[in-house]
Amino acid sequence: MRKSMVIGNWKMHGLVKQAALLAATICDGAQYNFGVEVVLLPAFVHLPLVRDILCGSNLFWGGQNLYFGHNSAITGEISADMLVDLGCKYVLLGHSERRVLLHEDHMLIARKLLAAVNKNLKPILCVGESLADQQRGVSAEAITEQLTAIISFTGIAVFEQVVLAYEPLWAIGTGATATPEHAQATHAHIRAIIATYSIDIAEKICIIYGGSVKAANALSLFAMPDIDGGLIGGASLNAQEFLTICRYAHETCS
Ligand code: PGA
Repeated sequence: MRKSMVIGNWKMHGLVKQAALLAATICDGAQYNFGVEVVLLPAFVHLPLVRDILCGSNLFWGGQNLYFGHNSAITGEISADMLVDLGCKYVLLGHSERRVLLHEDHMLIARKLLAAVNKNLKPILCVGESLADQQRGVSAEAITEQLTAIISFTGIAVFEQVVLAYEPLWAIGTGATATPEHAQATHAHIRAIIATYSIDIAEKICIIYGGSVKAANALSLFAMPDIDGGLIGGASLNAQEFLTICRYAHETCS
């Protein structure tokens, strides 16, 4: 039985006051242990305060990015050690906003993935097709290319530690969500790619869906057999909506 996960990606939102209130409200509401792993990904500068609020609860926190190497002269970057030092269990890697806006390529993402795993940080690795890929009918090929490029550099064994997030670019922050059937088909495709390397890892790996997940559509997405939870952007900034999504993940995983 795979675990279910709901991950709140706060992106570059909020000041100290809002981040503290959001973390505290989610923490209070989630005290009943929903049977689902809930992870908050605040901006780096808010990690210490989110850690202080979530410490001792059944919630986890993580970073939205890292850079490989440690104690190096790399201005403005954050290492895996620094995230571990702040109690992070997870780190988000390969998000399309970083791939597109900051030109992160497969090789850089693969290096970051190895840096995370070497420090026992679990990477949440995002893959997903662009609108152009979708319009050209090559969504599956685009995802295969992203995954195989990374696996050919890292090897498959590290994927024991990885959570995969399918995030079609055309659905991120747009309000347009993949239908549960489309998302299920893509998750099954992703699992099949992993199975060509390791059937055992393919069966165990948690594959979550991201892209305009809200309380209104979460239940039908999470009900699909290969969708093991959600990566939530905009809706994770509203504590009650996020908690409702966590409840739906619980209802569909048990
Ligand atoms: P969204 O973002 O839920 O606002 O579409 C998801 C993500 O980018 O992780």
